[in-house]
Amino acid sequence: MERRVVRCRYLVIGSGVAGLHTAWRASLSGDVVLLTKRSLFDSATAYAQGGIAAAIGAGDSPELHQRDTLAAGAAMCDRAAVDVLVHEGPARVRELRSAGVHFDLDPRGEFLLGKEAAHSERRIVHAHGDQTGAEVVRALVERVRATEQVRVLERTRALELIVDDGICFGVRASHAGAPLEIHADATVLATGGCGQVYRYTTNPAVATGDGIALAYRAGAELEDMEFVQFHPTALDTPETPLALISEAVRGEGAILINTLGERFMPARHPDAELAPRDVVAREVFREQQTTGGVRLDATALGAEFAQRFPGIFALCMARGVDPRVEPIPVTPAAHYAMGGIVTDLAGRSTLRRLYACGEVARTGVHGANRLASNSLLEGLVFAERVARDLETVSPLDAVPPAREWRVPPLTDRGAAQVAANLIRETMWKHAGIVRSADGLRTCLVTLDDIERRLPEGATEEANLVDTARLIARAALLREESRGGHYRADFPRSRRSWQHRHVLWRGTGALVTT
Ligand code: FAD
Ligand code: SIN
Repeated sequence: MERRVVRCRYLVIGSGVAGLHTAWRASLSGDVVLLTKRSLFDSATAYAQGGIAAAIGAGDSPELHQRDTLAAGAAMCDRAAVDVLVHEGPARVRELRSAGVHFDLDPRGEFLLGKEAAHSERRIVHAHGDQTGAEVVRALVERVRATEQVRVLERTRALELIVDDGICFGVRASHAGAPLEIHADATVLATGGCGQVYRYTTNPAVATGDGIALAYRAGAELEDMEFVQFHPTALDTPETPLALISEAVRGEGAILINTLGERFMPARHPDAELAPRDVVAREVFREQQTTGGVRLDATALGAEFAQRFPGIFALCMARGVDPRVEPIPVTPAAHYAMGGIVTDLAGRSTLRRLYACGEVARTGVHGANRLASNSLLEGLVFAERVARDLETVSPLDAVPPAREWRVPPLTDRGAAQVAANLIRETMWKHAGIVRSADGLRTCLVTLDDIERRLPEGATEEANLVDTARLIARAALLREESRGGHYRADFPRSRRSWQHRHVLWRGTGALVTT
């Protein structure tokens, strides 16, 4: 099939909060091509429930938000990046409101603010109770669609970055199965996370770590890949992905109980159910291993549950659980990747003309454990910074070296599916909530074996393998427990590991000092 080439000033890959904001904002200074591998509405952003954290309430301040973010990050955040996040966040949230996002407001027209774990203040803005992400996507998609300077290509999957001599020229992509090359003065990866490497995850099917794998193969630096966040309360069903029961439900007073009906969190942490997310996830996991299942009891909210959390209420009822009168069965699930492509405060990666923002980027704001509802905020704040920096990018006066290529047809869909399932089971078992050197070594051997047997054209599964391997190798190197990374053989945080990161440069890992 003949290769088509499209040229633009800016190429944005991904249509979550980060990609949609970048595309619209960048279009103010040049033409944009926006790629997304399914529809514009397919993203983790669309599923976000709790909301967006921003220091806008009376009595709150960016300094308090910064303090909470740094505390959750377990001494691994970059203070300068957190500073940017908390100070620029409120303006971005107000802009969203001006852009037509219908946030929940009080009768005076002020934001209604929710509470989530490890936040010292009520600072979570939300929309339609628990449908913040869908509302944000609705408004941002509308804006992008109304912008002539943005050309949207749906069902278009980036397969490979075109990089020559450390400069990114764009991507090779599959456009509904046909080869398409897009050349741009600057390329922005906004491809989201990689929760699909785990058997139990809240992440949608599109979260296969493509941006991580593409950037890694192209030689961009990556960092903090061992820090994966597990959400403590996904709805415990046999489905994949699992539906989320927002932390905001605990913020409104719901409690965790074991099979004996006992509340266990107060004995494990002074903040009980609102302890940092990594702590609650591990305790739920531990309780599952010892007493069996765990349930979230929100019955004290009674009829109010359906008003405050209409989306979660519907999710539960559709699965035969009425949260007004019975506890909800819950389980931890992979939820968020703190690590990713190393970027500076303008979103620049270590390859020239390649940017990253949103979950795929490692800006340094989350450290070892993201504070709840800080990721939509990060997506907005750093997408804005990327867009501003793009204005300074000079037009490319060179063309990328031409090369013949094709979209490899998938030869055996069944074998690809088997491989994906095996990756997910292996990662859950060995590189999940509790890790050890033996388990991680087994995991790496299994991943190599899966890779050898991948059928031709299994490009998404190849991305899963590469991303999984980066997580497992980094987790093996970090011989301590910190934030989302817990090693049964090194159960404590070690001062010698504080502020040290596992950095991927080329195909080698090094530990920074
Ligand atoms: P995404 O929203 O995941 O978008 C990535 C985009 O890239 C998608 O459109 C995808 O199709 C596209 N893509 C991927 N690979 C390719 C490729 N190869 N080619 C082309 N396109 C590609 N965070 C909060 O702050 N508050 C919350 O309340 C909250 N709730 C959450 C609830 C759930 C169930 C989940 C899963 C996450 C939640 N998070 C929340 C986390 C937050 O939603 C994500 O971190 C954030 O939305 C990521 O935004 P993003 O734009 O970086 O990526
Ligand atoms: C939630 O609503 O519990 C998820 C919030 C987040 O992931 O930030």
